[in-house]
Amino acid sequence: MVTLEKIVNLCKRRGIIFPGSEIYGGLAGTYDYGPLGVELNRNIKEAWRREMFQLHSNIFGVDSSILMQRRVWEASGHTSAGFTDPLQECKKCHHRFRADHLTEQRIAKCPDCGGELTEPKRFNLLVETHLGPVKDDASLTYLRGETTQGIYVNYRNIKTAVRAELPFGIGQIGKAFRNEITPGHFIYRMREFEQMEMQYFVRPEEADKYFDHWKEERLKWYLALGMKKENLRFRPHAKDELAHYARAAEDIEYNFPFGWHEIEGIHNRGDWDLSRHSEFSGEDLSETDPKTDKKFYPYIIETSAGADRLTLAFLIDAYNEIVGGRTTTTKSTKDVEVVLRLHKKLAPVKVAVLPLSKKDQLIKAAKEILFDLKRAGLVTDYDDTQSIGRRYRRQDEIGTPYCITFDFESVNDQKVTVRDRDSMKQDRVAIAELSLWLKENLES
Ligand code: GAP
Repeated sequence: MVTLEKIVNLCKRRGIIFPGSEIYGGLAGTYDYGPLGVELNRNIKEAWRREMFQLHSNIFGVDSSILMQRRVWEASGHTSAGFTDPLQECKKCHHRFRADHLTEQRIAKCPDCGGELTEPKRFNLLVETHLGPVKDDASLTYLRGETTQGIYVNYRNIKTAVRAELPFGIGQIGKAFRNEITPGHFIYRMREFEQMEMQYFVRPEEADKYFDHWKEERLKWYLALGMKKENLRFRPHAKDELAHYARAAEDIEYNFPFGWHEIEGIHNRGDWDLSRHSEFSGEDLSETDPKTDKKFYPYIIETSAGADRLTLAFLIDAYNEIVGGRTTTTKSTKDVEVVLRLHKKLAPVKVAVLPLSKKDQLIKAAKEILFDLKRAGLVTDYDDTQSIGRRYRRQDEIGTPYCITFDFESVNDQKVTVRDRDSMKQDRVAIAELSLWLKENLES
């Protein structure tokens, strides 16, 4: 059974994810990626980027500012009731809770001290900041609450620059900030997180068709990256839970150890965004139908995923424990080996180089191979400590697809043993062909 606790421990121990500001006692809702986490998170974003921008000729990238004019957030509806969560506070210990979460769990008293709770009140999630030397109402603005708005403010610029015609998309990956009342479940709900969002601009009459299309496309993406089908499902939003901008919405949910929860939202945002930005900015963002000469605002189909939530979901999905071990011969039931069966594209380290012993001759040759592989662009690890079995175990635990052993025979035949993480099959491969062999097998 994979538990969140096991994932949190693995992440801390192996340098995947650490609590933010840890040496000062932490800062709720913030986490820092360590050396392996940087690679894993980057690989997820790269797989999304490749899918959206490289495999589609009508989806374009943008990287907009985190800081935008305050009017952007007024136009988008985020400063008003639309972007709020219901909050209840304990009258005794003053801890705060999401009222909807308490209702879901049928909790009527404070979960921490049993005290009486206040009536729910609306709490805005935008993170405020001030720009310039004077901290007054005029200098108030917000850290972006979603990356989406940076796409809409660039709609006209991009459409003109790339001469795009409907339907076309604009996507971006970047940080978003929300003053979440109850951050939690490790990196599931954070106050600073990263989104991967794509806005597909379509003619209004085609919105339903593209909504269904993108739902299916996004599900396929998860499956192609090895996520287990039984851990994924769609959940349509009921009318009363739709976001202020949405005409229709479905979540892709993942079966986390703490229940089914959203990892990505597919929304039909209708003409809300472009019409509101036209109204608030004075810039006409409508299109003209060439046949009827009538003006209309394109509808927007949005796919919105959180890079951190996906990192957590992919880690959980890949986590396997083998009781009795597989690299040891003891087969004791106390011996539990962890294998992270991450898709090869996502694995943070692609290949580990392990000289069989600490003899100078082996270490020197192994390091030469290591630097050749680095120069070939592969993310590598090197380990010459402890037994070979223990070293395999350490690599299995972080999901390294291939381990290379340079042994005494290698000195004579100029071949190394390549061991596969999942099958544990061992191949002898000529050193001269190693980087090509690895690249082919990592792509397969
Ligand atoms: N632009 C639409 C939008 O932002 P959302 O459902 O609020 O929609 C989209 O967020 C995705 O962003 C979620 O499915 C989730 O993956 C991620 N996300 C949202 N809030 C988050 C948080 N507090 N921590 C981590 N990820 C979050």
